[in-house]
Amino acid sequence: MEISFSAGDPLAETSDATIVPVAQGDGEAVLTGAAAVADAALDGELARLARDARFVGAAGVTMVVPTLGRLEPRRLVLTGTGPVAALAPQAVRTAWGAGAIAARDAGASSIVAAIPAAEGPLDLAPALAAAAEGVGLALYRFDKYLSEKPAKTVATVRFLGTRMEPETGAGTVARGAAIAAAVALARDLVNEPASVLTPESMADRAREVATASGLTVEVLGPTELEALGAGAITAVGRGSVHEPRLIRLRYRPSDASADPSRETENAATVRVVGLVGKCITFDTGGYSIKTGDGMVEMKGDMAGGAAVLGAMSALRALACPVAVDATICAAENMISGAAFRPGDVLTAMNGVTIEILSTDAEGRLVLADGLVDAARHGATELIDLATLTGAAVVALGEGTTALFASDEALAGNLERAAAAAGERFWRMPLTQELNEKIKGDVADVKNSGGRGGGAITAALFIGEFVEGKPWIHLDIAGSAMTDSDGPYTPKGATGVMVRSLVKYLEEAGA
Ligand code: BES
Ligand code: MN
Ligand code: ZN
Repeated sequence: MEISFSAGDPLAETSDATIVPVAQGDGEAVLTGAAAVADAALDGELARLARDARFVGAAGVTMVVPTLGRLEPRRLVLTGTGPVAALAPQAVRTAWGAGAIAARDAGASSIVAAIPAAEGPLDLAPALAAAAEGVGLALYRFDKYLSEKPAKTVATVRFLGTRMEPETGAGTVARGAAIAAAVALARDLVNEPASVLTPESMADRAREVATASGLTVEVLGPTELEALGAGAITAVGRGSVHEPRLIRLRYRPSDASADPSRETENAATVRVVGLVGKCITFDTGGYSIKTGDGMVEMKGDMAGGAAVLGAMSALRALACPVAVDATICAAENMISGAAFRPGDVLTAMNGVTIEILSTDAEGRLVLADGLVDAARHGATELIDLATLTGAAVVALGEGTTALFASDEALAGNLERAAAAAGERFWRMPLTQELNEKIKGDVADVKNSGGRGGGAITAALFIGEFVEGKPWIHLDIAGSAMTDSDGPYTPKGATGVMVRSLVKYLEEAGA
């Protein structure tokens, strides 16, 4: 699918369907801009149809109107933006995403979309980028294993508007589309079955991304990891025929996108953001085995690693101004004669010893080595992402990411980025008193603190391995997958946190 921009009047262009925003008024839709022009051309019939259908322009609600040869577009897709004057990016994502799905469901292959109305040129660019993003996110589908592909598919989405220069418009739409593509990559990886997406094949995907997106890549296998003293990730991966991999990716801004004020600074003070992703390609729980039900979604236990790779894939295209080091901790948590056991004591890369209470608390183990590796290779701040605990799902429900932070400035920046990206999160406490629960009996720490505060004790455990760096931990256990279709997130993998990370990194140069 191609998403593009041209300067011009969206109603003057032929299309299978043209998406037109409609704001919510007082019990009635407010037809302004392109909707008002279309209504006039149809002698007020559009407004009458909207009234009959009780279409009031509520956010995410659409109405498809065939134009029966009276207008250039074969159909209009009215999409409600909700009761807002100046459109917030999140309302735009929802409206244009829902509009694109309605157009596709109506059978449209060639779609035209009006650009959002915005107060000033400063609001217009983020709104247009959000619209392109919403369309790209909404039309995502994972159909590679369906022998009968869905009949209704979209080939092109062309944004048209007169209030933007062709070049600026094209660049803005391209940014939105690039972010949607990065999310799609993460979703693809998560949706892929664990028999296909193994630690080795994840490393292959990382190599492909590195080549396509101007990153350097390095992949460590069990031999190298053992030599480094990474006793945690190697233990988790030992039960599987698919050996563990620690994947390092590096992004460095090109000269044009580098902040010139930083060039004179001492190399040691240059900011390097370290992203670390849990990438358990399948989590059986190991000998602390999960129930059948508990295992159903565990092909998605690599969503942290997928989000990291997705975000990394977009940085070059977006000319991200800050250096980023990514570490993907890939292993499969299986059972065999070689697998690790409850009672085992592991030594992580920083020498901290870990007593295993549950082989099902494996995510924090692979992250332990990954975080130490990232910190020791020059990351000046750390952000880890992990489908880490069922406790986070119990605490916040589906769709909300649990955010933990050791540093207020970092937390504020990530919270702002997530809010702008339209991703729901909730700040959780690093309750120091709960450290007691993960104090080890025969080793320094134990890998489970029990049921109470399970998401917090998991975060506290990870904090033992950040080498004193400012750090954010994102528990995405409840937000990485969804079992129902949203306005721009189909059922399955969500690609959660790719957009927040990208936004955070884009703003990190400022
Ligand atoms: N991958 C799971 C967490 C998870 C649960 C993700 C549900 C997505 C949905 C993780 O490895 C795990 O099993 N955590 C245990 C930790 C416990 C043994 C301390 C949990 O949350 O039960
Ligand atoms: Mn587990
Ligand atoms: Zn897991």
